[in-house]
Amino acid sequence: MSEDAAIGIHDLSFATAQFVLTHATLAAENGYDVAKYHAGIGQRSMSVPAADEDIVTMAAAAAAPVVARHGADRIRTVVFATETSVDQAKAAGIHVHSLLGLPSATRVVELKQACYAATAALQFAIGLVHRDRAQQVLVIASDVSKYELGSPGEATQGAAAVAMLVSADPALVRIEDPSGVYTADIMDFWRPNYRTTALVDGRESVSAYLQAVEGTWKDYTEQGGRALGEFGAFCYHQPFTKMAYKAHRHLLQHCGHNTGAGEIARFIGHTTTYNTEIGNSYTASMYLGLASLLDNADDLTGQAVGFLSYGSGSVAEFFAGTVVPGYRAHLRSEVHRAAIARRQDIDYAKYRELHERSFPADGADHPVERETAGPYRLAGLSGHKRIYEPR
Ligand code: HMG
Repeated sequence: MSEDAAIGIHDLSFATAQFVLTHATLAAENGYDVAKYHAGIGQRSMSVPAADEDIVTMAAAAAAPVVARHGADRIRTVVFATETSVDQAKAAGIHVHSLLGLPSATRVVELKQACYAATAALQFAIGLVHRDRAQQVLVIASDVSKYELGSPGEATQGAAAVAMLVSADPALVRIEDPSGVYTADIMDFWRPNYRTTALVDGRESVSAYLQAVEGTWKDYTEQGGRALGEFGAFCYHQPFTKMAYKAHRHLLQHCGHNTGAGEIARFIGHTTTYNTEIGNSYTASMYLGLASLLDNADDLTGQAVGFLSYGSGSVAEFFAGTVVPGYRAHLRSEVHRAAIARRQDIDYAKYRELHERSFPADGADHPVERETAGPYRLAGLSGHKRIYEPR
């Protein structure tokens, strides 16, 4: 792609939840050796939303600084990717549109395909900007990952939102053609409408992910993509950070490359710094990995980054981006680190109480106590309507 035609990520901001449960606390409760979590799956803690936080409040908190920096004049589309939506009909992005005071001349839509949907949102955004380079698209990915208490998946929960401004002449990362895409009808992870927690076949999900790595790479290569050796870093979807290591090792093996541990860490280590502390944020996870890479790696100017986006069910996409000269001046590294550091440690009892909470379905008024220190909160449910407010 010529530099004149470049479209990609102009700004990137994330927000996470008020609380954090450490894996040491979880291990003490369920009797596992904490090394299973720290070394085995590569997780140290997971974000837990307060009673008055959800995908909307995290999304608004992530997107507000983007709108504050760039204004809303050129944003004509908001695409909200999530698999833990708060309504079956209304797009969660409309609540964000309202909280942020975006213009009425905006289209807002929600996308779903497990953890993959933010990548679909990014590609749709690029298509819209191609049509009119003056427009910008606000892409938001926000999720709360929830498995049953005591299940193997419990240690891989988490919560976060990422907001990305997609525009022509991006300041951070140019997204390239082509993409390698892959779909397989598989029940590795799913959540029927009547459940609040996901169902998963853990082993099946890991091998389905690895199959998708091969499938996307095959298509990417057939579409004329870059050679493996051209990439300076790889950013994978991270349900737990060790999954990114497994995936990269698999790709290297598949391509007949050296799979030494040091070699793998060199290419993906910086993408896992935030996810290790936040946990699985589903649609946001890979883009949280990108934030982590940009914030924590040495100068990446001009380097190609490979992205592997996976969503159970399953759909996956491999694509490349190039880091733009001067990108470091546009990062939000300190704010991102502070969002992780400011979370309040909770004990197992508090985590369990939050995990088991749900609104009665009676249509009455159900105000929610003030807990979050974030900029937006869920004030309650009234007449079956969720009420959001600035804090
Ligand atoms: P498990 O079966 O309880 O764990 O849960 P395990 O016994 O397989 O142990 C995990 C690792 O820790 C193993 O390493 C052990 O050897 C090691 P590996 O063989 O994988 O390299 N281990 C230890 N290491 C050091 N010291 C110790 C110790 N003990 C064990 N003492 C499982 C693992 C992944 C099944 C579980 O976490 C789970 O079900 N997670 C949810 C599903 C998931 O995350 N799948 C990933 C792929 S699917 C995906 O990414 C999509 C998803 O994000 C959803 C979406 O798309 O929307 C999930």
